[in-house]
Amino acid sequence: MSDAPDGPTGPGPDRAASREGAPSSSYNNIILTGFMGTGKSTVGRLLAQRLDLQHVDTDKMIERRHGPIPRIFEEQGEDGFREIERAIAVELTTDVGFVISTGGRFMLDPTNVAALHEGNRVFCLVAELDVIMDRVMHRRSSRPLLAGKDPRARVEELLQQRADGYAQFESVPTDQRPPSSVVSDIISRL
Ligand code: S3P
Repeated sequence: MSDAPDGPTGPGPDRAASREGAPSSSYNNIILTGFMGTGKSTVGRLLAQRLDLQHVDTDKMIERRHGPIPRIFEEQGEDGFREIERAIAVELTTDVGFVISTGGRFMLDPTNVAALHEGNRVFCLVAELDVIMDRVMHRRSSRPLLAGKDPRARVEELLQQRADGYAQFESVPTDQRPPSSVVSDIISRL
């Protein structure tokens, strides 16, 4: 993985798990998936801090290399963006000791799942529709999929389309709780 991560360098989840008193583990990385607005970036950063792991965020990797996501959608279409995500997934297969926050559809792409599910611990952050709407409306301009006239209807539609995909992963509720509590919940499951 060639981009600079935004956490400290250090060994992988084994050390992390023992630091928090959990049994040692057999996975390479912790991957966070879930719909837009479920807190993947914030929780991922805090989780990496707590576990003394490195943190990467696939959307940020993409933006560092290719520019703002709305512009990528505009110039290369959604298909172009998904191709970039697939290339990132291949790079991430060699990583060990990371918390990886992914874009909302990243782990629903069968190619990315085939590359990354095995060997990594995947958690899906979930939230109710109203909570998602509250959270995403703050940064709506950075989310091209919500650019249309009725973002709530669009979110509902996408949630429905993606429900089975997200359901293949262990889910972690994020409603009515601060990111630090979501982090503690995840750590208690390691
Ligand atoms: C997307 C979610 C976004 C980003 C892109 C597409 C999606 O990431 O990858 O706008 O399809 O759900 P966040 O989930 O971090 O907002």
